[in-house]
Amino acid sequence: MTATDPETVNQPNHADDPTDIEFWKRAWRRADASLGDAANFDLAKWRRVWKNLSRGDADRLDERVTRNRELIDFMVREGLVAEGATALDVGCGSGPFAIPLLERGVRVTALDPSEEMLETLRDAVESRGLPHPDYRAIPFEAIEPDNRYDFALAAYTPAVKDFDGVFALERVARGFCGIVSLADNQIFQLRDYLYREVLGVERVSNGGNALFPFGALFASGRSPNVRFVEERIERARDLDETTATQQAYFAALGYDDDRTQTLIAERLADRAADGVILERFVKRSAFIYWRPSEDR
Ligand SMILES: C[S@@+](CC[C@H](N)C(=O)[O-])C[C@H]1O[C@@H](n2cnc3c(N)ncnc32)[C@H](O)[C@@H]1O
Repeated sequence: MTATDPETVNQPNHADDPTDIEFWKRAWRRADASLGDAANFDLAKWRRVWKNLSRGDADRLDERVTRNRELIDFMVREGLVAEGATALDVGCGSGPFAIPLLERGVRVTALDPSEEMLETLRDAVESRGLPHPDYRAIPFEAIEPDNRYDFALAAYTPAVKDFDGVFALERVARGFCGIVSLADNQIFQLRDYLYREVLGVERVSNGGNALFPFGALFASGRSPNVRFVEERIERARDLDETTATQQAYFAALGYDDDRTQTLIAERLADRAADGVILERFVKRSAFIYWRPSEDR
């Protein structure tokens, strides 16, 4: 039988067909598996990663809030969210989206399992004199099933890392859902460098790419909209803080032996000047938004 044999041409092949939801589920699972072994997921170790990240996040929060205001205003103009409406910010982190939403009079529920992230958000809310969100220090998986919000948003979070997560977002949304994800891998320069230098492997960090939720939504009959956002990032990061963050990240993936952890510190020191690591790149993101399907 040849590839052009009518019998084979007309056979459905879910694995190769990008209009089939199964294609995207598989592709997303594969891309995500490259981020680590899901079976060995260790929440305590990941909490350390987020704790470390929360320190850097506090320093960069003002800058990110300023940039995100434009996207939040776009959401308001599109009618996704309005003053007085309720919004769930899944994996809110230190609040770069929650804060501009609060500024627009939205009643925000800020959900994140990391106490440190929520603490950073609490400080930022207080210092800005904003109304307090409803803080929920739980993973998204633990949210009460009958809670509903006018708008459910998940930005750059592993809480929505497969199609179950996307469905879960739909279940808590009365109005619209939104996902903000990366549109390429430039932000992982440092991580990719360490993969090469420390583990000796090339690595493409793809699990967080917006193509997967977009493709999965499209193939499952939703009508996702997308708006791309580009930010020119130039940052000087403290070597010690960066080393602690990267060591925690590799430890969470299972590389917590002394040799690997020491090599990470050494290779990062090679890239630093005066105790500072410079990074310069364009961060491309996609904001995907859609109305949940009626038969969710
Ligand atoms: C890269 S940060 C992004 C935070 C924020 N949304 C932003 O745009 O900066 C990822 C966040 O997802 C949170 N997170 C990880 N797993 C989660 C889960 N299962 N449920 C909810 N949040 C989760 C982490 O604690 C962390 O704060």
